[in-house]
Amino acid sequence: MSESFTTTRMRRLRRGGILRDMLAQSTLAPTHFVAPLFVRSGQAIRRPILSMPGQFQLSPDMALEELSDMAARGIKAYLLFGVVDAEDKDESGSHAHDPNNAVCTTLRLARDAGINMLAITDLCYCEYTTHGHCGPLTQITEKTSRRKTDKFTPSKRGKSLSASSATVDNDATIAQLGRQAVLHAKAGADIVAPSGMMDHGVAAIRAALDSAGFSDTSILSYAVKYASGFYGPFREAAESPPQFGDRRGYQMDFRRDSREAVREALLDVGEGADMVMVKPGMAYLDILSAVRQAVDVPCAVYQVSGEYAMFKAAAQAGGIDEKQCVLEMMHAFRRAGAAFIITYYASEIVEWLNQ
Ligand code: PBG
Repeated sequence: MSESFTTTRMRRLRRGGILRDMLAQSTLAPTHFVAPLFVRSGQAIRRPILSMPGQFQLSPDMALEELSDMAARGIKAYLLFGVVDAEDKDESGSHAHDPNNAVCTTLRLARDAGINMLAITDLCYCEYTTHGHCGPLTQITEKTSRRKTDKFTPSKRGKSLSASSATVDNDATIAQLGRQAVLHAKAGADIVAPSGMMDHGVAAIRAALDSAGFSDTSILSYAVKYASGFYGPFREAAESPPQFGDRRGYQMDFRRDSREAVREALLDVGEGADMVMVKPGMAYLDILSAVRQAVDVPCAVYQVSGEYAMFKAAAQAGGIDEKQCVLEMMHAFRRAGAAFIITYYASEIVEWLNQ
């Protein structure tokens, strides 16, 4: 039955703040936000990331200060990314397996200091490889002649060496991923988050964690991750731009519809993912909504570096009310189905919510 336009007044339920609050369906609480942190080896380093105002690369000691501060302000979870000095990079990303790298050191410091936050780690190799791709490559045969510190330069000799034909070796990468996961779990990670879009990666990580006795460590899979221009500032932040080509050979094509996303998510859940993530956020609300409806595990969303940079730039230019617009965006994520949100705005949002 259709409503009569003469009696219907949609505005009745918008008349006062109490009524609007009573009817509100999406909610925001400090527990819904995860703060990403970039850590690098060294001491007393707090280096601003120019393309992401308010974000820093931190040495483990400074990261610990930042985490204590965040915990005191009510932030409940953080996501660690390692930034790697050029001399520590190689073609397979072996520094990711060094128990004294910045990520593991920070995890141990936080655990020893009793920081009461969930520790999540990004599991990938792009920060650790000379070529900047998310794992060891196939079809690179000149590696023995290249020095560790050299950037990858595609050879002009021989078809098999061309950059366009080199791609991440899926099975070699997943064989390593479990090792990185176990290292993080040992150092104190509660949740590991594989972000490389490797097929069967979640299963490999689950098996490695279980056989090392870490069956309680959760996996938050970046199950649905698009090859996106919105990661631009991150690559400065993490010093991890691909040295040739791009990531379209393994990250998803945004011209495909949500069915591919649902399939990715279901596969990862089948392999043992405890939670799945959609990334980026703002331009992918349709995807988030579809994935949320298709899986029975919690779904997260990642508001990525380029989204953060856009809000910051717009706020700086004076055109928008930063707090109002950022919170509106967060409600959109929650409405679309996000259980929690990874965002560089986490600190500011929690402050706003506590005001
Ligand atoms: C590593 C990784 C990236 C991001 C998270 N993990 C970069 C990429 O895939 O190129 C991007 C996060 C952001 O832009 O904030 N694979």
